[in-house]
Amino acid sequence: MDFRLKGFLAAMLASLAVFSWLIYYSTTGDRLKPIPADAKQGKRIFQQKACVECHTVFGNGGYSGGDLTKIYGKFGSEGLKDYLTHPPVISGAKQRRHEHLTKEEADGIIAYFDFINLINTIEWPPRPMPDDKIR
Ligand code: HEC
Repeated sequence: MDFRLKGFLAAMLASLAVFSWLIYYSTTGDRLKPIPADAKQGKRIFQQKACVECHTVFGNGGYSGGDLTKIYGKFGSEGLKDYLTHPPVISGAKQRRHEHLTKEEADGIIAYFDFINLINTIEWPPRPMPDDKIR
């Protein structure tokens, strides 16, 4: 076989191997970490408490309470715990307090918020949000 043809075939094989490895690498590896158990539990509590009636996550849900996708980044663990276990009167309402959670329920939901806060949402939700002026 012609030397140049051999070289060409070798280069093709090498690029095929590199390309295959890149596809494999992009779909596997330790970058795809499993969802932590406490975050899963927190998601269940979030569903049972029907937080989405008033809040959106990734844009889905009710609109009266604002989007919670990146709320962990805004308040952190302690701020959220304080808010959820000592809920304030909802602004605009005279008496109605925000949903009250026990310490355990709050811990679960906070683990869920911590997890979804790590998901790259390419800047979702857009800022400023109408609820930014609330606190
Ligand atoms: C009846 C409607 C309603 C439900 C149900 C509800 N919220 Fe809210 N939530 C609100 C409103 C309205 C606000 C905005 C705060 C205000 O008006 O004072 C808010 C604020 C918040 C905030 C602070 C957000 C911020 O940016 O200041 C968090 C965190 C939060 N809610 C979490 C939850 C969680 C977790 C649940 C479920 C356990 C839940 N909410 C259920 C209406 C609701």
